[in-house]
Amino acid sequence: VTLAARLGLDVPIIQAPMASISTAPLVAAVSAAGGLGSLGCAVMPPAEIVTQVARIRERTARPFALNFFCHEPPVVDERVDRMRARLAAHRAALGAAELPLVVPPPFDEERLALVLALRPAVVSFHFGLPGDAALEAVRRAGVTVLATATSVAEARILEARGVDAVVAQGVEAGGHRGTFLEDARAGTMALVPMIADAVRVPVVAAGGIADGRGVAAALALGASAAQLGTAFLGCPEAELPELYRATLRSPRAARTRITTLWSGRPARAIETRLTEELAGEEDRVPAFPLQRVLLAPLGLAAAARGDADFTAMWAGQAAPLVRALPAAELVATLWREATSRPSPPSSPSSSPASPS
Ligand SMILES: Cc1cc2nc3c(=O)[nH]c(=O)nc-3n(C[C@H](O)[C@H](O)[C@H](O)COP(=O)(O)O)c2cc1C
Repeated sequence: VTLAARLGLDVPIIQAPMASISTAPLVAAVSAAGGLGSLGCAVMPPAEIVTQVARIRERTARPFALNFFCHEPPVVDERVDRMRARLAAHRAALGAAELPLVVPPPFDEERLALVLALRPAVVSFHFGLPGDAALEAVRRAGVTVLATATSVAEARILEARGVDAVVAQGVEAGGHRGTFLEDARAGTMALVPMIADAVRVPVVAAGGIADGRGVAAALALGASAAQLGTAFLGCPEAELPELYRATLRSPRAARTRITTLWSGRPARAIETRLTEELAGEEDRVPAFPLQRVLLAPLGLAAAARGDADFTAMWAGQAAPLVRALPAAELVATLWREATSRPSPPSSPSSSPASPS
């Protein structure tokens, strides 16, 4: 059975989890439309996850995913002091405060208990997997487990650890690279068929897919489903600041880059004045996600003045293809486009040789 059949989806389209952006309205709309919505839980307090899940279930009985990060908790070291000093002039200029160094934990016992209580149809993990006991508990609860791979080696490990499907994330993808071992930085076009050949479990293609042509291509490459993040940023249900939305609609959306500068881990975002200024300092950035905490007040203070240059605007290479459609309409449009493509041109030998 395909992944879509196993999950009872009408269309093999997954709305990618997007921490703080893919909240209940977007997730419920996508799932109700027959795709799979994913709630980005990585930075949500547990009580908020409970509230969000209740809201999704008020709207639809269809399957949805909860998404968590599995990174190593960061160590506060001298890089934090250095970066604080480095940003001091910007803080002063923007009148931005400093936040205490409190970071959301990775998937832990508390979140595991939450998953076992809430029993979503799917849980997806980024930056690797939790420990064996936690993973086994999730699977025993009947939850389908997805996890991101950015290389064939990572896909093999995920399969060996027992995931139900591998999300092959190409280099085009917006947001964080899900890398936990080695980042091949292969594009979706190369990565999806390589991973499909290397594992028996279904593969989900992610990265640079923003319309029906991309969805059809993903399926042609051997994927069971396509996972789209950036494309859903245009939906009114996505919870993103107006300045970020406006930047996505501007020519700046065509200039994205993978950088550690926003968070401490490699992630693709729209290039800004800040990332250009700090470009040579990637290796001196505090560990993920401490850098987020250092930059967050700058982003808010600058945004209040209409300046997006200090905001992490995650976006993939296909950002210029984003359409401002309600989520249900986007899902229907993507699938209609994917399935109503003109058939490929016939081979030269079967075309009329010459006009008679
Ligand atoms: C704004 C944004 C936020 C993201 N946040 C997460 C996240 O919280 N968890 C996760 O597993 N992936 C996250 N991703 C990555 C997506 O899962 C997916 O790999 C990516 O969106 C696919 O590429 P695309 O953006 O070109 O569609 C995020 C992507 C974007 C664009």
